Amino acid sequence: MQGSPPRGMRDFYPEQMRIQNWLFSHWRESAHRYGFEEYNSSVVEQEELFVLKSGEEIVSQLFNFEDKGGRRVTLRPEMTPTFARMIAAKGGALAKPLKWFSVAQCFRYERMSRGRKREHYQWNLDVVGVPEVTAEAELLAVALDALEGLGLTAKDVAVRISHRGLMGAVLEALGVPPERWAGVFGVIDKRGKESEGQLWKLMEAQEVPETTIRTLFSMLDEKTIDPFSALLEEKGLSTEPVEDLRTLFGYLEAYGIQEYCEFAPSIVRGLPYYTGIVFECFDRGGKFRAVFGGGRYDNLLERFGAGALPSAGLGFGDVVIQEILQDKGLLPGLPRRVDFFLVPYSRDERGQAFRTVQHLRKKGFCSDLMLNAKKLKGALREGARLGAKRVVLLLPEELEQGLLVLRDLEAGEEERIAEREFLADPGRFL
Ligand code: HAM
Repeated sequence: MQGSPPRGMRDFYPEQMRIQNWLFSHWRESAHRYGFEEYNSSVVEQEELFVLKSGEEIVSQLFNFEDKGGRRVTLRPEMTPTFARMIAAKGGALAKPLKWFSVAQCFRYERMSRGRKREHYQWNLDVVGVPEVTAEAELLAVALDALEGLGLTAKDVAVRISHRGLMGAVLEALGVPPERWAGVFGVIDKRGKESEGQLWKLMEAQEVPETTIRTLFSMLDEKTIDPFSALLEEKGLSTEPVEDLRTLFGYLEAYGIQEYCEFAPSIVRGLPYYTGIVFECFDRGGKFRAVFGGGRYDNLLERFGAGALPSAGLGFGDVVIQEILQDKGLLPGLPRRVDFFLVPYSRDERGQAFRTVQHLRKKGFCSDLMLNAKKLKGALREGARLGAKRVVLLLPEELEQGLLVLRDLEAGEEERIAEREFLADPGRFL
């Protein structure tokens, strides 16, 4: 047995837990403010769900096993298939449009790198029953609001947006057969994560000819929608992707978040279920992996037998955001704090200390007391370690006169106060 957790997993000691909770409370608070409702499920899911819905890469990364009843199960690698399963199970009983969120721990047996662990928490936000890009605009607004709440601005991060239909059209125009598209999207998604040479190899494995790869890669660097619009028109293909993108950018302006958002055709997303708008949020310095990613998946729920239910969503991980905040000096210190720390002079004063600490706790003050018998010096050291705003000393002689000794550790000052007054209004003494 070693002291470390299994490779790729994290332990959360109290100081890290304070940071996690700080982040999660920002996520939850933003989601509530934007009208999203919280849901969750077990981390153990049916393996089949991901084999059918998540695509090859995620399936190769599953923490899967057989339970004692011989069922194939897995720790969930993502939340979307579970979300789709839950919505489909309720069918028409759930009123649409529906906006749900979750803070879900996910597990992927990934090659470990910066920003990639084998376990992470993901804030999932999904909208069901909205065919228009109003859903995407709302999703981006809430995610960016949370980022701002954490201290980031449009100078720090950008959301890069595209549409699966654009690259689909390019592939169609280049004669790549539709059954190869998911594989090709998977390779495009690796741009920036793999070397150029490796990308060429992966493309060749998808049987894409050299000249096609060259044209495809040059299209990925386009900065505007216009060349794609021209291509779609020239080939007589639906211009819906272009219209969707232009409408979305208009909405993002009205939401006041346009300075975060830019068109980037290289964003295709690695997961196979996306059908329309896709997006990913990155730090502008290009040092880190994606902060969040998502898009529209209009066919996934139908595949669970739920009927056609247009949907869009995103996943925002806890790892990359903390790396970025740390890099920018924006992670809060969050030291441990208690309002009052009570110190009974000896065992004889304990009864009174218990009664007083309970009184403070019931009144809503964060209060602790010394559980081990210690000399005054040790007691004050313990109070400092707990971040006590005030140490309350229960000394025999003072207690006899109805007095408590209140010590302000930071100021190094001490005063005698009437116990009665303190109990009536402890907040006055903070
Ligand atoms: P994803 O892009 O695979 O999308 O993950 C979303 C986010 O989760 C990433 O941008 C990243 O912040 C974080 N993440 C993913 N894998 C890891 C990892 N191994 N270590 C640390 N962080 C990680 C999805 O999972 C979609 N289901 C999102 C979605 C929701 N689409 C629609 N609704």
